[in-house]
Amino acid sequence: MLEVARTVEQILRDPEDSLVVLSGCGTSGRLAFLTASCFNRALRDRQQNTVYSYIIAGGDRALLTSQEASEDDPKLGMLTLEKLCEGKRHVLFIGISCGLSAPFVAGQLDFCLKHPDIYTPVLVGFNPVTQAREETMPGYSLTFREVVQRMEEQRGQRAFIINPAVGPEAISGSSRMKGGSATKIILETVLAAAHTAAFTNTHITRSVLLDMMRGYERVYSVTYSHSDQIATLLQTAGLSLQCGGRVCYLSWGSLGLVGLIDASECIPTFGADYEDIRGFISGGYQDVDNIEGDLTSLGSQFCIAHEDFVSLVLPTLSDRDTVLLLYTCHDDVGDVEKMAHRVREKTSNLHSLYHGLQGDTTADIIGLLCSSVLNITWPSSSTVHMQWELSSKLVLNAVSTGSHILKGKIYRNHMVDLQVTNSKLYHRAIHILQLLSGVSLTQCEKALLKSIYNVEQLTEDITTAGVTTHTLIASRRNRVVPLALVCLLIGCSLSEAESRLESHPVVRDAVEACLTSSQHLTSSPGDQTSTNH
Ligand code: F6P
Repeated sequence: MLEVARTVEQILRDPEDSLVVLSGCGTSGRLAFLTASCFNRALRDRQQNTVYSYIIAGGDRALLTSQEASEDDPKLGMLTLEKLCEGKRHVLFIGISCGLSAPFVAGQLDFCLKHPDIYTPVLVGFNPVTQAREETMPGYSLTFREVVQRMEEQRGQRAFIINPAVGPEAISGSSRMKGGSATKIILETVLAAAHTAAFTNTHITRSVLLDMMRGYERVYSVTYSHSDQIATLLQTAGLSLQCGGRVCYLSWGSLGLVGLIDASECIPTFGADYEDIRGFISGGYQDVDNIEGDLTSLGSQFCIAHEDFVSLVLPTLSDRDTVLLLYTCHDDVGDVEKMAHRVREKTSNLHSLYHGLQGDTTADIIGLLCSSVLNITWPSSSTVHMQWELSSKLVLNAVSTGSHILKGKIYRNHMVDLQVTNSKLYHRAIHILQLLSGVSLTQCEKALLKSIYNVEQLTEDITTAGVTTHTLIASRRNRVVPLALVCLLIGCSLSEAESRLESHPVVRDAVEACLTSSQHLTSSPGDQTSTNH
């Protein structure tokens, strides 16, 4: 981190023809965007030229929606990077892949290694190097692990790997939860230290980095010291989802991006509809400040301004829905209050998350309109806005994950209703099926394919098609993993599995009911079905 911060510092001191590029897929790309925007803003505030840029697999629409397929394409990653950096003399490339797994990022890192005169690659992830993904990448001769091994050979000189262990993915919740928070902490610590050194003519030392990290440690303890209020929010949001209602995050300032990111992840992670949990940001795309600008014309999913909330959601808002206001003492509190009044005309299910500084009382009036209030008070510091973002991320991650658990989208800690939209998720789905059904990998893959293609018998066309085709078809279908799981547990046809899922709209209940009946079947000796398991 020290070396990388010093490289950024050099770029800040001599920015001509230089660039710091942050890149990733899904949430990792969204955090790349959030960080690049935040530090470009800091440069603009100092009347300096901006030096940061971001790449997200799938382009700007992936900032708000799930575009998982591009993650599989190392060449696309490489070409996008090359195009962005045309004419640059020096590029610090920071590739983020929490699982050390995204081919899109591997292609970019490999490209950097091949052009050391211009590019210095940095990999940020949370697996040991030996656990980087080994699977071959489409149209590419190297695996992620081989790319990382090449980086290892130059580690600390021409290539850097920042890969602290933050716990296994099952616990760290992949890039969406702990991995994403760790990404945010690492990137902000490195870049903030570089800014301080460059603009105050000081040196970056280990203790500068450590002090910042300790600041984030305090964010964790301060935020979770409010666990009772977080639990209340989670419960309320869970009730909304359980009864077919919606959860809306209405945010101001940079908390808006945190809300949009958290909401967008629910679609691939829990097979959620985009209306289930949805984020809105006060200034719309003007506040987002993304490269491709206003994306509203792409459809209702891309309508993210408060005006969109007022025209699309407010008219049908009821007590079934949960609305959460997210704001800080730096925001236009009068505007927050106005919005709070409008929401209250439709529902009393209004809540707030407010970050204030010691000594201020701003939130009091708005709090009176809300049925629950989470006010967090912070000591003043130059990086407090980043701490507010992390704190809000922790709260929203808990709310969205917890409410989906309450909705029954999780079975024994597995996200059984995930979307199967790229090769990593395809293999993860098979792994989950195997773990829960106990049958062979081949049988699980067959069941998954039947569910994806919606057929009772697999044809040769299907079995010979590649994973890319499978995931493309799967992206147009719902509940493919639960369907396959029910088929495997009961040994039944796809249509029977469909009707069982219909009779149990809660996925966890359906799986539990099937397990009970399959245990019942296995206990009757000689039963044909039981031998399938
Ligand atoms: O494609 C699935 C996914 O898990 C996304 O939901 C996630 O944000 C993305 O991959 C990135 O993962 P990683 O940071 O491990 O490359």
